[in-house]
Amino acid sequence: MSEILAPWRTLLQRALHRNRSQIFSRYFSLATISEDGFPTNRMVVFRGFLDNSNQVKIITDIRSEKFTHLTNNSSSEICWYFAKTREQFRIKGKITLITEICQDKNLLSEREKVWEKLSINAKEQFYWANPRELLTENPAIIINEIEEKKPISNFCLLLLNPQKVDHLELKGNPQNRCIYELMENNQWLKTMVNP
Ligand SMILES: Cc1cc2nc3c(=O)[nH]c(=O)nc-3n(C[C@H](O)[C@H](O)[C@H](O)COP(=O)(O)O)c2cc1C
Repeated sequence: MSEILAPWRTLLQRALHRNRSQIFSRYFSLATISEDGFPTNRMVVFRGFLDNSNQVKIITDIRSEKFTHLTNNSSSEICWYFAKTREQFRIKGKITLITEICQDKNLLSEREKVWEKLSINAKEQFYWANPRELLTENPAIIINEIEEKKPISNFCLLLLNPQKVDHLELKGNPQNRCIYELMENNQWLKTMVNP
């Protein structure tokens, strides 16, 4: 899929490059809305952008709470801080869930590609016992052969489709804050605001 690359995308790419020596630069917090209407946060790993698009790739397990939240309400926001360059990106948008029942062949193949790229340790987590169930002494973890190429059925690719981006740079006095909003004509509106 190809789309016009958003103006904030270059800045995010630059931040990723400048902060590449810090492994935690690839972690951000993902907020979803729970059934009771409260926001819920957790850290996740950035898995890159979907080719030639602004969509952010994340992975998770369909047994996780975030998956249930997103099934009921696809609204989400990520918050990403780059410590070296001292800048924050808050990216708001709807998330598409790509599971094995996805009808789009390209997206299914993207799900496979992401799975293939995972380390064995990362793949193994999808074979662990059900999250949030009471810990037992001998949990029934049945790790048969880990499928190297074919994603396990509980593996899910999340695609965050950004609608609004709030970029704050702490460097500078006063600091710089810029808001980008996706308009109906598919153009991004950039507004410099007070921090
Ligand atoms: C640094 C870090 C990276 C993480 N990356 C992921 C990830 O990419 N995907 C994921 O599902 N959980 C990841 N987790 C675990 C989540 O933060 C969370 O504990 C787990 O997914 C259960 O969340 P939920 O019950 O809200 O769905 C990560 C945790 C940490 C601390």
